[in-house]
Amino acid sequence: MIAGLFLLLPAASMILLLFLPPADSLSSSWLFIGRLHPLLLHFPIVLMPLVLIFEILGRIRFLKEPTRAISLVLLAASLSCIAVVLAGYLLYASGEYSGNLLMDHFRAGICAGLGVLVTTFLFFLCQLTAGRFRKWYLTFLLLTNLVIVHASHLGGSLTHGQDYLIAHLSAIFGTKEKALKPVDEMLVYEDLIVPFFATKCISCHNEHKMKGGYLMTSYQALLKGGESGQPGIDIAEPEQSELFNRVSLPADHEDHMPPEGKKPLTDHEIAILKFWITSGASTTLKVKNLQQHTEMAPVIRDYLPESARLNRRLLYLKEEKEKLKKQLGALAEKLQISIAEDLKTSGNFFTLSMKFPPATFTDEQLKALQPYFPVFTKVSLVTSDITDDDLYFIGNMTNLRKLYLQKTDLNGSGLVYLQQLPQLEILNLSFTEVDDASVLQLIKFPALKKVYLFDTPISTEVVKALRQHQPTTEILLEEGPYN
Ligand code: HEC
Repeated sequence: MIAGLFLLLPAASMILLLFLPPADSLSSSWLFIGRLHPLLLHFPIVLMPLVLIFEILGRIRFLKEPTRAISLVLLAASLSCIAVVLAGYLLYASGEYSGNLLMDHFRAGICAGLGVLVTTFLFFLCQLTAGRFRKWYLTFLLLTNLVIVHASHLGGSLTHGQDYLIAHLSAIFGTKEKALKPVDEMLVYEDLIVPFFATKCISCHNEHKMKGGYLMTSYQALLKGGESGQPGIDIAEPEQSELFNRVSLPADHEDHMPPEGKKPLTDHEIAILKFWITSGASTTLKVKNLQQHTEMAPVIRDYLPESARLNRRLLYLKEEKEKLKKQLGALAEKLQISIAEDLKTSGNFFTLSMKFPPATFTDEQLKALQPYFPVFTKVSLVTSDITDDDLYFIGNMTNLRKLYLQKTDLNGSGLVYLQQLPQLEILNLSFTEVDDASVLQLIKFPALKKVYLFDTPISTEVVKALRQHQPTTEILLEEGPYN
């Protein structure tokens, strides 16, 4: 019974975890424990079904006296699940993963942990009360096993299966270290700064989402600066650099970067960035040079493990991108279409176009592409036999920005499917049969900047009406671009 009560303490802590905001970045030694999560979680995953099996074997009298075994297994499951939840929380708080799937897994994981503790508690309660709570205990045992399956499934999806697990196990044992550059060869800009920009800044300062007019995806853009008109980095007067200033402001200042609520740069990251800017922002400055600098040496020493972690993560993403490219390449070959990387973006984005001479393009083909819809930013189906109904599929390409549909048999009845595309900026409908009524749908398109309507049956009144109602959209009566 005492053991049972003892379990209520961690159970209460787990409930608290559910409501706690994530801790800020943790030191790498905590992260080490966090990375044990994928290793430890196997214990409760094996032990809880084992309890279920023991119960069944006891019931069919295959096992004579399973109570003792069950109490031991339940205690082991409880202890291991406390460790799993703790490690999982540290991994979560490290900010290494984010997104809805992570949150779902986090919640399911804590529920599974609670389930194990409550089941164990009920089991001991049954021992004390001559089985009065046995139904409750069995119900919880069953439910907990189901929740564990669900949580593991989410965790598995989160980690993209085997690869990921191996990557992180090897992160613990250091075998993947080989893939990273040796410290002696590391460059300050490329290997220290770019990785933390990539995780903390690029989400708002990329080709698609250029907050403050500032692009941070290349060295040249970094120097240039944004809407403020100040250079991002002023080599002659480094301390006047907009980038320098934005990260130096007190964290609660309105202009501080990143904005409030986003994961801030750590003190080490700020120190490295400032040192790099004031020393001339050279892309060839080596980490080795900083290690010889009295002030920077301890910063670098402390920061290297974190930097390795970020680089490893980027490496993983790069591998994922290569995989995606291969899959899309094979699909393009099969469907006789062209798929190419969208070089204007730094993310995992692609363009889709017809080969010349165009083969038929059926909705079967669109369906085959469906799992990849979010990766397409530009689609050119000029002269294809796409139908208005097929636009339904195109309407699910959530990152689509440019769509070329000229010289097709569209009559415009499917344009309604496209109005939910949040980022569609350019639409070419020249040489199609789109009519007045369907073209009026364009008023509802949220991001449309240019529409080409050359040689279509639409009337001048409708063109006028569109121009009046949607002044942010240019209505162009010219052929327009093909890709
Ligand atoms: C959540 C989105 C977001 C993130 C993340 C973010 N920024 Fe910004 N950034 C903005 C917005 C919005 C502006 C424009 C408003 C302003 O000037 O404060 C801006 C403006 C800037 C500017 C000024 C550009 C100019 O010349 O006007 C700099 C420099 C900058 N950010 C640097 C950074 C750095 C460095 C990081 C990462 C540590 C970062 N930002 C992360 C949203 C973001």
